[in-house]
Order: sequence, then structure tokens, then C-alpha cells
Amino acid sequence: MADIILGIESSCDDTSAAVLRDGVLLSNVIASQQVHKDFGGVVPELASRAHEQNIVPVVSEALRKAGVTAKDLTAIAFTRGPGLLGSLLVGTSFAKALSLSLDIPMIMVNHLQGHILANFVRQEGVPVREPAFPYLCLLVSGGNSQIVKVTSPTEYEILGQTIDDAVGEAFDKCSKMLGLGYPGGPVIDRLAKQGDPNRFKFAMPNIPGLDYSFSGVKTSLLYFVRDQLALDPEFMEKNKEDICASFQKTLIDILMKKLIRASKETRIREITIGGGVSANSGLRERITLEGQKRHWNVYLPEFKFTTDNAAMIAVSGWFQYKAGVRTPLDVAPVSRMADF
Ligand code: KG4
Repeated sequence: MADIILGIESSCDDTSAAVLRDGVLLSNVIASQQVHKDFGGVVPELASRAHEQNIVPVVSEALRKAGVTAKDLTAIAFTRGPGLLGSLLVGTSFAKALSLSLDIPMIMVNHLQGHILANFVRQEGVPVREPAFPYLCLLVSGGNSQIVKVTSPTEYEILGQTIDDAVGEAFDKCSKMLGLGYPGGPVIDRLAKQGDPNRFKFAMPNIPGLDYSFSGVKTSLLYFVRDQLALDPEFMEKNKEDICASFQKTLIDILMKKLIRASKETRIREITIGGGVSANSGLRERITLEGQKRHWNVYLPEFKFTTDNAAMIAVSGWFQYKAGVRTPLDVAPVSRMADF
């Protein structure tokens, strides 16, 4: 009998449900919350409320699109954390209720593990291209910046991580500072394409080992813009493309420096990226070029699997289901990675 897994993702501001049959994606529905746009960031309470409104229609739509009913499901995979607690509670409680009513197992998934396994979402008619184990994943999002060594679908080790801001946070905060809006990553990415990445220089951090830091480059941009605006009030408007291109290049330089080092130290040349920032066109281009130069096999997830989605949660849950993992009904969501 086929394994039909329902995945549920509700860690931040996207309510998503996906259905997977024996590892092949049948549907992936995402309701992105627009309510946060006016606030320049995700408002946790509004996010929980929107998840509560979206969860039933989103799951129903995922089942309908997949051509299955709830009774066909084998197991339910859901995001336990890390993320916003109120948001996670909606997905977790929904998964529990469905698991109880259908008398099928549920499997908790670490959201980050979902991103790490995003390249394993198989789709009908799309050639399979998956990294071999062990591989390195550069996991870059609004909440994380990590280099992860993935030994198997259920075993991984964090080799390095940010000691302050995540790289996505740096994109978002700087975009807000420059008056470019939220979320900042896509806006900076778009403007950077029209700018000169070598025009301005920003401070590079000097952090030992494989850890990252992004707060210094953010401050460097803040002082730079402040000083330039004092000389010319039009500076921002006249130079925003070059500022974005130079700032984005600095962030990519920081990310790549440690990834190259991690590859050398571990002798692993299977390289993937994951998380919202892995949608960045500059990063995708750069990692591809470095890969050619360094004989890496680089795997870039499709754009739709870079941001939060339930397909990657379903895949992660499916791997665990096959390994015999089951989650008891008294599980509670966790907001921080350290609590896993
Ligand atoms: O993984 P994700 O969807 O969610 C959480 O971290 O919760 O990542 C969101 C982050 C935001 O910081 C956003 O600005 C960034 O991903 N992002 C990008 C791009 N698209 C989204 N950053 C750079 N370039 C992009 N094209």
C-alpha cells in the first residue's frame, strides 16, 4: 500500500499543507499572510489568528488537489518548531485532532530539517536530482544562518551558525532602514540586479571557525548611509541600486567564505542551499560559479521550495515514518531550536 503523508507547516506567516504519495508530491498549497505588510515585519498575534482562519481551507484544498480524502492518509507530518509559538500551536493542534479522529500516527518535524531536505521533494515529470549523503547545506532564512552537515535524512550536525542576526534579518532590517519595504530580501535582490556590486565596501566580520555574524555589516551600512545623506539628501534615491548590489555582495561574500572553508575542512563537495534567502539570485549565481571552480556538485531547490512550504515538511515526515519514528499525542510545539 502506498504511504500517503499530509504535511502541515505553520511556523511563521505561511499556512501550508501538502500531500505526498510514496515521496512524490501530489499537492502543495500555501496561504501567505498579507496582513503583516503594513507593519514592516510579522506580528505574532495576527499570524496565529490568520493560521486559525486558513488551516481548514488550506488542508481541504491540498487533499482536493491531490485527489485523496482524509481517510486515505497514512500519517500526518507537522512542524513542531522552531518558530512563533502561537503559529505553531495552530498546526500542532490541528495535526493532533486529525490524527486522533483518523486514528493514524503523527510525526513532528523540525522546520529546519524541512529546509535541509527541500531537494528531496519529488515531482511527477521533473527529473530527480538529489544530493548524496553526506552533504553540506547552507541554511539561510529570516531566523537562521547555518552550515549543516547532513549525514542521512534523519541525522545532521550544525557546523557553524550566526552568533547574532540571521542573514535574512540583515536583508529585512537594512531594507527597512533604506525605506525599501518588507520583506527586504526580494526587494534588495531585484534592485541589486541593476547596480554595481563593487561600488561601495562594507565591513566584513572576523569571527573564528565556521560561525557567522551579520550585525556588523548592518551597522556599517547604517553609518555609511547616514554620513552620505548628511552630504547629499538625495544620495539614497540616486544610488539605491549600487547600495543594494554592494550590500548584497557583502552578505554573499560572508556566506561563501565559511561555506568554502566548511567544504575544505570536511572534504564534502555535495553542496545544497535552503531557506528563504536561498531564493536570492546573486547567491544562487555565486554558489553555482564557486561550484564549477571547486568541483562541487551544487543542488539548488526550486524557488517554490525555498520559502516556507509544507512539501518539505511532508518529505521530512515521510523519511521519519519509514524509519519508524512516531510522535506521541502529548507533544508540545517549541519556539527555539535549542529546545529540540
Ligand atoms: O525561510 P523563510 O521563508 O522564513 C523564515 O525565516 O521564517 O525566510 C524568509 C527570509 C526573509 O528574511 C526574506 O527577506 C528572505 O527570506 N528572502 C530573500 C529572498 N526571498 C526571501 N532574501 C534574499 N533574496 C531573496 N530573493
